[in-house]
Amino acid sequence: MTRLLPNTACAAAFTLLLIFFSAVKPSGADDKSDRDAQFQKLLKTIPGLKEKIDSGQTTRKEVLDWFEQYDKFESPGKDFKGGIGKSGKGGKNARDVAGTSFPATAFEYAKLVESELGVPPTVDLDKAVEIPLYVDGVKTLGELPVCDNPTLLGKTNMSGSVIQRYPGRTRDGRPLKDVVWVAFARHAGPRFLGSVQMIGYNRRSGATAFFESCDAIGPWVRADPVTTRLRGVMPGVDDPAQFNQAYVVPGQVQCVQCHQNEPFITDSFINAAKIPGTDESVVPVLDKEAPYYVIGGENWDMRTIHIEGNRCFDCHRVGMETMKLFMSSGWDANEHMPPHAPGSMAEDLAELLDAWKRGPEKTKAAMWIVPPARGKPARVVGDDYPHKSFFNRPADLRSGRKLLK
Ligand code: HEC
Ligand code: HEC
Repeated sequence: MTRLLPNTACAAAFTLLLIFFSAVKPSGADDKSDRDAQFQKLLKTIPGLKEKIDSGQTTRKEVLDWFEQYDKFESPGKDFKGGIGKSGKGGKNARDVAGTSFPATAFEYAKLVESELGVPPTVDLDKAVEIPLYVDGVKTLGELPVCDNPTLLGKTNMSGSVIQRYPGRTRDGRPLKDVVWVAFARHAGPRFLGSVQMIGYNRRSGATAFFESCDAIGPWVRADPVTTRLRGVMPGVDDPAQFNQAYVVPGQVQCVQCHQNEPFITDSFINAAKIPGTDESVVPVLDKEAPYYVIGGENWDMRTIHIEGNRCFDCHRVGMETMKLFMSSGWDANEHMPPHAPGSMAEDLAELLDAWKRGPEKTKAAMWIVPPARGKPARVVGDDYPHKSFFNRPADLRSGRKLLK
């Protein structure tokens, strides 16, 4: 956690790789000499790549596969089948969407989000980046009670989860440079296998879409018996019935309960997945200016607390339910934040936790805000905010369990 991105640098970092990928387009990557040529280009473009390969942090193949996939995704060519067609019949995982603005099926949802987010990716777990688990700095396999980079979800740490980032594109394959998709396959272990989830995000408008897999991903996914890594290909929107079989819309669960301050959650587990050959996390890091609204989640509670002058809000919004989740997994903000000098904002943290205990309404300089969205700036909302949900109920995060040292 040494990387510190001031606000504008965050946005720049987000686009950096996309620009970068188009600069190193291979002509036809099946061919060995093309791959050699592309690798030479990558060696020139990515700082420190040779050292990373020499030290075994990544391999030439991993790096080439990543960039090749990116390129194919951006210019899919004649055999591209990913477009969103008209018919979305079939599949049986319709959700209870009463009281929400979500359509009943994942395919209809994909069509609804298309104008902002293009086409959801067809997720190939074999080409995704594995999320390594480390014990004392050594990559370790299996279900680990303790590790250096635990998930903060309160679940066990199981090796073999994978994650991937995709550039946005339209149904006919044109790049959408403000759009990014992240797909995450969480390995839950031998009994439950796991789940595959996707988030699409448009960093200009803030439009966000959340897709969840059904509980039984067995038809498409398996865990490698030796490496524990999840493998397989999830259905894409070119097969609506299968897509609906595999994915569901969020329905009654507000993903923003935890994906609260921005679409993407970053914790030590997630941040361990790096784009091969680089130090950049697969999951993009956003900032306090990042617009955010959920298509279909129009009645989700998008509020976060804000305190004028408190430095915890210098770089990003803070979701207190996310913090509560992290803290109940043993995370102490003073050991991690701010990333360049952990603990140096202990007073700001204390002020934040106090304000949360009393509630923003009862705290001087504190307020509820909702993120910028659709070109409109962030705004302060009052007691008449119509979408209050249980998770934004202020509480004493230091009482009960001993959360802070
Ligand atoms: C109870 C909290 C919680 C809820 C609710 C939740 N998530 Fe997450 N999610 C997490 C955490 C924590 C991570 C980071 C990975 C980890 O530590 O396991 C994560 C990571 C992800 C990722 C990987 C990208 C990222 O942001 O790091 C995706 C994709 C995702 N979640 C999708 C969803 C979807 C879709 C929903 C709603 C249907 C949802 N999540 C609801 C806690 C939650
Ligand atoms: C100088 C910039 C900066 C400051 C100041 C800062 N943070 Fe962060 N924070 C980050 C960055 C960058 C990340 C994302 C990368 C990571 O997870 O380390 C992050 C991530 C987080 C997350 C995870 C959020 C999520 O949903 O993924 C929490 C919670 C958080 N910070 C809380 C705090 C608190 C509390 C303070 C004040 C004590 C604080 N931060 C101050 C830069 C900052």
